[in-house]
Amino acid sequence: MLFRGILGFAAIIALYGLVEAQNATGPANATNTTTSALNPFGTGFLLSNGSSGYVYNATGNLTSPESGPFTPSGGIGNNGSEPNYHPLSDYDYQSLLLVLYQENMEANLFESGLRNFSTSDFQQVGLDANDRALIQFMAEQERGHIMLIQNILGPSAVNQCNYTYPYRTVLEFVDFCRNVTRWGESTVYGFLEHLDSRAAAQLLLQTVTTEARQEMIFRQFEGLFPMPVWFDTAITQSMGWTLLAPYITGCSRDSPKVAWQNFPALNITNNPNPTLPNATLPFNATSPSNFTSTQVSPSPFANATNATNSTIVPGITSNRTVFTIPGQVVQLAGDYPGMSVGPNNSYTTNNSTAGPPRYAAWISQLNTTYTVLENVQNISGGWTATTRQPNETIWPNVTQQVVNGSMFIVATDANVSVSPFNISALNPHVVAGPAQYFAG
Ligand SMILES: *[C@@H]1O[C@H](CO)[C@@H](O)[C@H](O)[C@H]1NC(C)=O
Ligand SMILES: *[C@@H]1O[C@H](CO)[C@@H](O)[C@H](O)[C@H]1NC(C)=O
Ligand SMILES: *[C@@H]1O[C@H](CO)[C@@H](O)[C@H](O)[C@H]1NC(C)=O
Ligand SMILES: *[C@@H]1O[C@H](CO)[C@@H](O)[C@H](O)[C@H]1NC(C)=O
Ligand SMILES: *[C@@H]1O[C@H](CO)[C@@H](O)[C@H](O)[C@H]1NC(C)=O
Ligand SMILES: *[C@@H]1O[C@H](CO)[C@@H](O)[C@H](O)[C@H]1NC(C)=O
Ligand SMILES: *[C@@H]1O[C@H](CO)[C@@H](O)[C@H](O)[C@H]1NC(C)=O
Ligand SMILES: *[C@@H]1O[C@H](CO)[C@@H](O)[C@H](O)[C@H]1NC(C)=O
Ligand SMILES: *[C@@H]1O[C@H](CO)[C@@H](O)[C@H](O)[C@H]1NC(C)=O
Ligand SMILES: *[C@@H]1O[C@H](CO)[C@@H](O)[C@H](O)[C@H]1NC(C)=O
Ligand SMILES: *[C@@H]1O[C@H](CO)[C@@H](O)[C@H](O)[C@H]1NC(C)=O
Ligand SMILES: *[C@@H]1O[C@H](CO)[C@@H](O)[C@H](O)[C@H]1NC(C)=O
Repeated sequence: MLFRGILGFAAIIALYGLVEAQNATGPANATNTTTSALNPFGTGFLLSNGSSGYVYNATGNLTSPESGPFTPSGGIGNNGSEPNYHPLSDYDYQSLLLVLYQENMEANLFESGLRNFSTSDFQQVGLDANDRALIQFMAEQERGHIMLIQNILGPSAVNQCNYTYPYRTVLEFVDFCRNVTRWGESTVYGFLEHLDSRAAAQLLLQTVTTEARQEMIFRQFEGLFPMPVWFDTAITQSMGWTLLAPYITGCSRDSPKVAWQNFPALNITNNPNPTLPNATLPFNATSPSNFTSTQVSPSPFANATNATNSTIVPGITSNRTVFTIPGQVVQLAGDYPGMSVGPNNSYTTNNSTAGPPRYAAWISQLNTTYTVLENVQNISGGWTATTRQPNETIWPNVTQQVVNGSMFIVATDANVSVSPFNISALNPHVVAGPAQYFAG
């Protein structure tokens, strides 16, 4: 198995009394047991010996002469040399290009909502002139981010494209903005530390912090708990591109081609609906605004006093910190590869390095946790399966569940052990996804 050797994965699991991981070549009808790729505490934090690559004795005392007054020795790019805010490799260029595609869409998206809906449309969901001004400001922030990245990339940088958005109501608009900023944020977290250009990473860091705040604002517009996790998770560029590309319909022909992978789409067909007073009610409407008579809240924003149990309005916070429970069955539908997606349909979904779907990888917080896919069935153009939400805390002896917030599920062919800094090792095993699971 791929990573067990490096990190002593099996030993770590044994240490914490967790179940032994099923190996990737195990029987196809493996048990329903959850296996978990543990957090970074198992992957170097506790180690300080040469064999792990960690040679620094963390005693609290300085171990070398300082490199200058009040300047402990070590660090990268801090020797006074002139910073070079320029991509230094294809990896850098392609990562930044992906962010530019993302930021271009966000600027367009935020403005599209202001353009498409009237003041009264916004008022009906409890959003007033101040809130609209904030959306406008966020669009302008995106313009600033675009200018920054265009400057870093130079003349080949891509311009605005045409987009197709799935929203029909203000509520869906806000929800989609929340989704887009969520994956935008996580995509950057996944590669920032790997950029060759540390200087460019510095600027991108100061961009993505803003994006994270935007995501939180959209959560607050929906009356959601603003940040129901301890750690914001990281995904790979290919996962981010998979989520973004379907909404980009056309770009000018001279736009640089994105080199990342488009995985087949993965849909969660019973995502919780946080707009309901009881978000865990079975939800099979196609949109959050499609309510049946038994579902009491017509809108999460309206202070509808006649809507029993509805206390959900835009706000700084609410005390609903979670919508789902461990063991909850999640229904998945994955596409087969070979679909045309993205600008001018010029990209094709591909999972050629992966085998059949066997696991759901739950990428959340610091962890990638696997559950077994059950009831895997082929359907026209794809497959369906069920799996169950794992019951894991982010590390032993804490209460924080791994799965919360708007997190990512990927269907994989194996349960390889990955942690945030090597999450890209998951790419070759992705059968479909990610999909966003709305756990809290
Ligand atoms: C996989 O698991 C089976 C059953 O536990 C075991 O016999 C086999 O050696 C394992 N294979 C690998 C590659 O770890
Ligand atoms: C599947 O489960 C059955 C019943 O538990 C068992 O006999 C069989 O060895 C398992 N593995 C495969 C590959 O069918
Ligand atoms: C997994 O759990 C489901 C529901 O309890 C059960 O129907 C199924 O047989 C289980 N699969 C295996 C391989 O144990
Ligand atoms: C770390 O500390 C131990 C004990 O003091 C010492 O033997 C060892 O040489 C130190 N290693 C390094 C890399 O400084
Ligand atoms: C740190 O330095 C102090 C002062 O030299 C010494 O007394 C102490 O033992 C050192 N601590 C460790 C953990 O090396
Ligand atoms: C965007 O759509 C418009 C209207 O269909 C079209 O004229 C334009 O060429 C498209 N632009 C790009 C960059 O695809
Ligand atoms: C919410 O809905 C779920 C699923 O129908 C049900 O199990 C749970 O009891 C409900 N909770 C409340 C507070 O009504
Ligand atoms: C929603 O799901 C329930 C339970 O599976 C089913 O009875 C109902 O017909 C579904 N409703 C729609 C609109 O699909
Ligand atoms: C809402 O759900 C009903 C079934 O309850 C369905 O017939 C209708 O097409 C849905 N409307 C939209 C806009 O999705
Ligand atoms: C909802 O409206 C009622 C009646 O006007 C008011 O008392 C209550 O404070 C409002 N709640 C919120 C959260 O705005
Ligand atoms: C997943 O959702 C997309 C977008 O709604 C749809 O085009 C695709 O057919 C769905 N795939 C499956 C397998 O449900
Ligand atoms: C946003 O993502 C959630 C899952 O986190 C999904 O249930 C919802 O349909 C998405 N909203 C829109 C408008 O696409």
